[in-house]
Amino acid sequence: MTTIGTPLSPSATKVMLLGAGELGREVLIALQRLGVETIAVDRYENAPGQQVAHHSRTIAMTDPEQLKALIEAEKPDLVVPEIEAIATPMLEALEADGVVRVIPTARAARLTMDREGIRRLAAETLGLPTSPYRFCDSLEELQAAIDGGIGYPCIVKPVMSSSGKGQSKIDSAADVKAAWDYAMAGGRVSHGRIIVEGFIDFDYEITLLTVRARGADEQVETHFCAPIGHKQVSGDYVESWQPHPMSSVALERARLIARDVTNNLGGQGIFGVELFVKGDDVWFSEVSPRPHDTGMVTMITQWQNEFELHARAILGLPVNTTLKTPGASAVIYGGVDAKGIVFDGVDRALQVPQTDIRLFGKPESFVKRRMGVALAYDENLDVARSNAVEAASRVKPRAV
Ligand SMILES: Nc1ncnc2c1ncn2[C@@H]1O[C@H](COP(=O)(O)OP(=O)(O)OP(=O)(O)O)[C@@H](O)[C@H]1O
Ligand SMILES: [Mg+2]
Repeated sequence: MTTIGTPLSPSATKVMLLGAGELGREVLIALQRLGVETIAVDRYENAPGQQVAHHSRTIAMTDPEQLKALIEAEKPDLVVPEIEAIATPMLEALEADGVVRVIPTARAARLTMDREGIRRLAAETLGLPTSPYRFCDSLEELQAAIDGGIGYPCIVKPVMSSSGKGQSKIDSAADVKAAWDYAMAGGRVSHGRIIVEGFIDFDYEITLLTVRARGADEQVETHFCAPIGHKQVSGDYVESWQPHPMSSVALERARLIARDVTNNLGGQGIFGVELFVKGDDVWFSEVSPRPHDTGMVTMITQWQNEFELHARAILGLPVNTTLKTPGASAVIYGGVDAKGIVFDGVDRALQVPQTDIRLFGKPESFVKRRMGVALAYDENLDVARSNAVEAASRVKPRAV
């Protein structure tokens, strides 16, 4: 049975978000609507989620001692990682000591913060189809891995990185050194380990949002959202839409893969399972044990969006993954490097029919920083996509 207390009182149900960006902010709002007391943690002040939480704390979440001290001081019922760059071994230790419950599990947070952990689990332990891959610690090892079977074209990624940072495609021997140097500059931590993956010439890629939530008999059940298609530019998502049309065979294979990997990671909550599809063939790429950026489209397409699904699942509440309408999302980038920007044309953007927008309130803009998102719905996916892109393009960030 789930019991929820009263915020800001001794009975409060307290949830701590580690990472308070645009995805965390929506989870925090969903939790608040259910009467949960929220603590938003980020590495900088006034992060989007901190602006809507009961409490905000600013620490280096990669520092195990700072993380431990904060969790012990705040005593949340649940700790919900929203980003990958967290001292996850400390979360595992605190979870093992019974100090806190980590969503979905501390092990899932550790395995997915590092491309090696999740890739070895998926390909070697679970036997799921993935691109061919090798892990390398030097330029020489990279060249040997390519010559020894990975071949060209291939993709190099730092093992610790996200949003395409340090990632590049190698088409021939002439590109290998530049890809290595780029990966060394783009990783989250300085040690030089990379994954090199054979290039999958997919027809399309999807995010399959998969929710592990408790059913009426207290057993954890797996629910799937409709597949989300997306477009990536330099490893960063720029547009997404739902539902992405798929053959029934490919959809069934995608669900089997998502079920296998999320069953193994365990716990309760939403997962964004990234998959490549060619004809009826499906490859596992990676998984986020939390809401997924491409899933922002669900704010307009689903009765319960991915943030509400996550909030419900982690509290032990039932979920409903039904699609309400087809729709699309398009990212609004900063376009400028500046502290404190304004957004012109929000009214013009919302004059595009059947649209909505979110501005995240980030205190500093970068040319390629995601500052907001435009959403559109329409029975016709092409109309929804072009309306989302049009609405996003009418919002003009300006330095002041
Ligand atoms: N082996 C591959 N073959 C073909 N394309 C790939 C391959 N690996 C990655 N890509 C492309 O690059 C994109 C980003 O790769 P990936 O998801 O591994 O990186 P990421 O940095 O974790 O990105 P994000 O954090 O935005 O999910 C993929 O969505 C896909 O479009
Ligand atoms: Mg990805």
